[in-house]
Amino acid sequence: MPSQSEAPEVSTQPGAHGQRRGAARKRWLKPLLLVLGVALCGLVLLCIIPPRIAISASPPVSGGDYVARTADCVACHSIPGGKAFAGGLKMGTPIGAIYSTNISPDPETGIGRYSLADFDRAVRQGIARDGRRLYPAMPYPSYAKLTDADVVALYGFFMKQVRPVRQANVKSEIPALLSARWPLAIWDAAFTPRSSYVDKSGHDAAWNRGAYLVQGPGHCGACHTPRAISLQENALDESSSNYLAGAEVDAWYAPSLRGNMRTGLGTWSDKDIGAFLKTGHNRVGSAFGSMIDVVNNSTSYFSDSDIQAIAVYLKSLSATSTEKAVVYDKATTAAQLTRPTAQPGGGVYAGVCASCHGFDARGFSQYMPALAGNPVVLDDNPSSLINLMLNGSIPLVVNGTPDAYRMPQFRQQLSDQDIADVLTFIRNGWGNQAPPVTAAQVATLRKSTNPSSEQVVILRMR
Ligand code: HEC
Ligand code: HEC
Ligand code: HEC
Repeated sequence: MPSQSEAPEVSTQPGAHGQRRGAARKRWLKPLLLVLGVALCGLVLLCIIPPRIAISASPPVSGGDYVARTADCVACHSIPGGKAFAGGLKMGTPIGAIYSTNISPDPETGIGRYSLADFDRAVRQGIARDGRRLYPAMPYPSYAKLTDADVVALYGFFMKQVRPVRQANVKSEIPALLSARWPLAIWDAAFTPRSSYVDKSGHDAAWNRGAYLVQGPGHCGACHTPRAISLQENALDESSSNYLAGAEVDAWYAPSLRGNMRTGLGTWSDKDIGAFLKTGHNRVGSAFGSMIDVVNNSTSYFSDSDIQAIAVYLKSLSATSTEKAVVYDKATTAAQLTRPTAQPGGGVYAGVCASCHGFDARGFSQYMPALAGNPVVLDDNPSSLINLMLNGSIPLVVNGTPDAYRMPQFRQQLSDQDIADVLTFIRNGWGNQAPPVTAAQVATLRKSTNPSSEQVVILRMR
């Protein structure tokens, strides 16, 4: 991404589908509500916070354009078809929508007047130049771990390589009564790390680079780590078994990235993880839902050594259960070929799904994912499966080329009961084992993800 000429392109990739990305963020805003009640005394914390940047920064690992890719700034600060980094992405929250801001270097409407210190404070501490506390929809609790060198490089990229765009910011729709930002100071004091990532001894350079990318710029935990009651991520690094243990982000479930044999990456090799991040496909699965944005705008641009570093780091995360790997059982395939309707859901599978995923549920590698032994099929939480069945998937765009195959939407074609049955069927055929899906679960998501409803701006898929 050598900047100017290509930067505007990135925002128009279908994967940068703003409204859906925004959906993944809406729960981040609840801390405001939660903290409001107890926050009066926190005014004390509103003192001016000095920037962290030290002038003698060592050189960045790579150019600022690359750092911006690792941090996926474009996914939130652009809208499909809009100018890169001009902001305007709508993010639904329980108390009203907010909009990402213009971070192009226009002095009037963007961040053209930001000094390096101002920029640092916004990115690593969540405080805008005018002193406004940013909502943690901006992932500064992760960016807090960025190195000085990477912040300097990012600043250089935004000031020198991004084209200034004059575009006024959109006012948030949060009612005035709830829009006070100072309670966030307390939330930040409690939950935002104060120092950059520090290499851990006892681990090699690749592991440490992977840990840095995952915890810092990549902000993988923002979606994959479960949140506590006050909505901070439950863990920020591998010292806790909650870290990257899987979480629901609105209607998608971001699965565990730990070593679990069924519901995590226990059966994935370094190469499987690398292929998934680089191309969105591997021999097991395909990226979909909010992970599409991540692959399209960020991980597909990572260098091979950074991809490998992430794989090394993820493979070092222990399993959180003693579950055994799925042992493939071909009885389900035999039943599909002889009497598919013998089980509820079996008929729908044979009629609607088998042409793409195979009667043997082994898929057609790399484009039609396998359903046997696939962690996303086996997760206790079926949100991703239901959402994908109802609404289908949007294109993966790697190296500028949208992939050819898409999971269709079955919203019109299949009833709640059909979807519940076929999902329960694939979750328990071919050796898989996972809790049944109910028609009521499908009905709930059918309503809250209806792409044609005016109410559901944030989940509209097409
Ligand atoms: C997950 C979405 C998301 C990502 C990724 C993200 N931001 Fe933001 N950012 C936001 C939102 C939303 C706001 C506005 C928050 C508010 O109004 O309180 C914001 C605000 C900002 C601001 C404050 C600008 C101003 O004066 O209003 C800066 C600077 C900024 N982001 C820079 C970055 C940079 C640099 C990156 C990449 C390293 C990045 N952001 C990545 C969502 C994001
Ligand atoms: C036209 C081909 C096609 C049909 C028909 C189809 N799928 Fe898919 N399915 C895909 C593709 C392609 C993906 C990968 C995601 C993407 O890129 O859209 C996918 C993804 C999935 C996934 C997520 C797996 C993963 O790891 O990505 C599940 C679960 C799934 N399909 C189940 C079903 C079920 C159940 C049916 C029948 C009701 C069905 N599919 C019908 C093509 C199809
Ligand atoms: C915006 C939310 C979001 C962010 C940020 C995110 N992910 Fe994901 N991720 C998801 C969702 C949702 C899925 C499930 C859909 C799928 O399999 O593509 C997923 C799936 C995955 C999978 C496949 C897991 C499986 O069992 O099939 C891997 C590997 C992964 N993510 C790695 C990462 C890494 C590494 C990062 C950080 C660089 C990251 N993700 C950041 C939402 C996110």
